[in-house]
Amino acid sequence: MSGLKNIIQYLIPYKLKAFLSILFNLLAAIFSVISFTMIIPFLGILFSKQQVIENPIPFRFNATVIQQNFNYFLGKIITEKGQIDALLYIIVIVAVFTLLKNVFFYLGRSYTIHLRTHIVKDIRNTLLNKILDFDLSYFYTQKRGDIISKMTLDVKEIEISIINSLDVLFKDPILITIYLYVLCVMSLKLTLFIIVIFPLSAFIVTRVGKSLKRASLKGQKQMGSLISVLNEILGGIKVIKAYNSEEFVKNRFFKINQYYTILLEKAWRKRVFVTPFSDLVTVSTILIIMWVGVKLVLAPGSTFTSPVFIGYLAVFTQIISPVRSFSNGYYNIIKGMASVNRINTILNFRYKVEEIENPVKIADFKNSIEFKDVSFSYGSDKINVLSNINLTIKKGEVIAIVGHSGSGKSTLVDLIPRFYDPSEGKILLDEIILKNYNIYDLRNLFGYVNQQTILFNDTIYNNIVFGQKDISKEDVEVASRLANAHNFIIKQKHGYQTSIGEGGSKLSLGEKQRISIARAILKNPPILILDEATSALDNESELAVRDAIGNLMNNRTTIVIAHRLSTVKNANQIIVLDKGRIVEKGNHEEVIKLNGIYARLNDLEIF
Ligand SMILES: Nc1ncnc2c1ncn2[C@@H]1O[C@H](COP(=O)(O)OP(=O)(O)O)[C@@H](O)[C@H]1O
Ligand SMILES: [Mg+2]
Repeated sequence: MSGLKNIIQYLIPYKLKAFLSILFNLLAAIFSVISFTMIIPFLGILFSKQQVIENPIPFRFNATVIQQNFNYFLGKIITEKGQIDALLYIIVIVAVFTLLKNVFFYLGRSYTIHLRTHIVKDIRNTLLNKILDFDLSYFYTQKRGDIISKMTLDVKEIEISIINSLDVLFKDPILITIYLYVLCVMSLKLTLFIIVIFPLSAFIVTRVGKSLKRASLKGQKQMGSLISVLNEILGGIKVIKAYNSEEFVKNRFFKINQYYTILLEKAWRKRVFVTPFSDLVTVSTILIIMWVGVKLVLAPGSTFTSPVFIGYLAVFTQIISPVRSFSNGYYNIIKGMASVNRINTILNFRYKVEEIENPVKIADFKNSIEFKDVSFSYGSDKINVLSNINLTIKKGEVIAIVGHSGSGKSTLVDLIPRFYDPSEGKILLDEIILKNYNIYDLRNLFGYVNQQTILFNDTIYNNIVFGQKDISKEDVEVASRLANAHNFIIKQKHGYQTSIGEGGSKLSLGEKQRISIARAILKNPPILILDEATSALDNESELAVRDAIGNLMNNRTTIVIAHRLSTVKNANQIIVLDKGRIVEKGNHEEVIKLNGIYARLNDLEIF
């Protein structure tokens, strides 16, 4: 139940509304119980059994006093104006109270609905906030479907089973107390008797009902063996026919089908027994209560008159529903706890890439990035994806990383914006360890383009700006021109305001890539990371994109992982990775001379 605390926290911002919701529900209950008790004087007058009280008693807030004074006023009306008028008074009171009851009922419900919908919204927002903060490793260890189902199905389940029941936990005990109080005032003896006998019978009914339902489930499991025999038959139909074994498999199937039928019949018989059984128990209980009640009414000198008894039964019917909803609410909360625990795996997840306290602020890249003996493994498997990487990238340099697929190129560049932290060794940016920087500032230094263009279902304009602040229309246009994107953008139906469809479905791969490049140019970062930015493109779009990338690289430190890019040859440094180790290093002429992996790739004209 400790997980429930997390959920209750979400109530705090709405505490005033929660209070109002409970208050209005209570007022509704009070007016409802009063209108039900009005049946007593009504019947009293009808059967001429209404007590006439001579004098009012001093007012106190107490049921007996209120009742006595009410009887005094009613008595006065009966003697002065007659019984019919008195009945009319009662009818008017009941009508007004019923109106009030329903007004308060509506208000109470409205606040409950407000709480319910807004708390769920808050939970979803918190989950998304949390998820956006996670380091990337989380998304590789968790299935995307799991995260989505936690954020949608589990949150919905929490809404239905817990949040919906929360008000029940607060409201129903108070309602039950009010009803019980009124019942005790009418007849303490009968109420005490009911308190003992009613839960007992309810307990018997639910227990028997549950165990019978469980028994019926066993029969249903047999359906499984029926299906598997059928599966065998269908799978082996050719062999069955070839061997003329129809009779054999038929008998097998019929036997299991017969067994299944017997089980199912038994199970259903048990199941349909539940309703008559519970009816029998309930009616017996009510009969016992009636018996005791009538004995009390008939006892000589009793104030528990027949109108009071009928009023008592009317109020008693009202207590059943909160008792039931309270116990349902309790079970629902238990049921919903499984979902709470599941979303708590997100809410209580500890980050691996965490920001230190008082991180260093950084606004610009001045000097160099250095890898010192960096090794890295993706957590659980402990196999080093990168081993002993030593590398210096100077400001203004273009550095190309080359190697077979799976050699660790992407992993190496992902360490620089701190998508992951090295397992061993350290990475310094301008002589300070990456871990010491403010993460937001650090990532602000990088532009990132890879072959996966991430576009959102929004306008082209918004996809280029991508949340950056203080951007003018002109800035976007300049960036788009540099990215070779302006010309195709203005050809779109609404120009920059054209919506690009889900995942950019209305654009070609090359166009999407150029929008990503415009986005990177607009961000104007000092350091650029290009992870196989053109590898998914055909030759024609590659030309346009390559040109755009050339513009993007101008005056920037660039780390490029290339598939077939001429920039590799012109890079200041070429790093060749093999199985996570740097095996060759230098400019084009130098590494070619080594006659190793790079030379072979070069011969194959992969670049
Ligand atoms: N998120 C991840 N979790 C576990 N292993 C990974 C993950 N990403 C990559 N790897 C593994 O790390 C190795 C290097 O991958 P990567 O850096 O993507 O290589 P490259 O970019 O050179 O193709 C591969 O063996 C790959 O299977
Ligand atoms: Mg890669």
